[in-house]
Amino acid sequence: MSFSIERSIEDIFINENNRVKKLLSKYLNLLFKWHEINNIVSSSDRDYVIRREVYDSYCLNKYLTGSSYTDIGSGGGIPGIIISILNPDKKVLLIDRKTSFIDFLNLARSELGLENTEVIQQDVLKSESDLITDTVMLKNFSNKIISKMDFEKKFIFLMHMIKKSNQVSKAYMLTGSPVLELSKKCMRDLRVSTHVIPSPFFETNRVIAEVKFEDIIDS
Ligand SMILES: C[S@@+](CC[C@H](N)C(=O)[O-])C[C@H]1O[C@@H](n2cnc3c(N)ncnc32)[C@H](O)[C@@H]1O
Repeated sequence: MSFSIERSIEDIFINENNRVKKLLSKYLNLLFKWHEINNIVSSSDRDYVIRREVYDSYCLNKYLTGSSYTDIGSGGGIPGIIISILNPDKKVLLIDRKTSFIDFLNLARSELGLENTEVIQQDVLKSESDLITDTVMLKNFSNKIISKMDFEKKFIFLMHMIKKSNQVSKAYMLTGSPVLELSKKCMRDLRVSTHVIPSPFFETNRVIAEVKFEDIIDS
């Protein structure tokens, strides 16, 4: 039987309502179509993207609290668009600096009718850049400035960058197992909690690193 996005969504998100399943299917059809020309997702294997990227992003949702969520380095909208679909009553901001991603995010926002969502073209590493949100999420945020750093240095750099925006109270990084090897000092200074996402599909598990800035006295 050939692969079908709709069937895969039905099987994996069996407990979700029809609105969510319909919007996830619509989003993924757009994403894979756009990917054929613009390369906007980490893999061309649709089944892998749904079971790994989409399912893990779906699991991130239960950790998020607050009234507004911002995905920085949103790219093709993972995890931001999935979080937006799951939370029609929350304000969701999708930030990227690249026009090709912004064009796709605007198209997806409009085709899916995500009224709760705003797409913003912004370089979050620019010193004047401020994040007007409660909760920041990020997955695979990368660029030339940080790509050569080891994982811990990158993690600290990104959390300090996010912390500069006074309104942000929490950050959630959806990442791999290296986050479980952060030094005790880093874990303590940034009050990091980690949550391993149980995957029914893969032997390796992704991890959510949670940093609550309100708990940090100074660092
Ligand atoms: C590897 S992609 C990850 C995309 C998506 N989060 C995912 O996991 O599929 C990294 C994204 O970060 C964006 N990015 C890199 N540096 C940025 C910056 N300084 N400000 C905003 N976005 C940035 C890139 O344009 C790219 O879309």
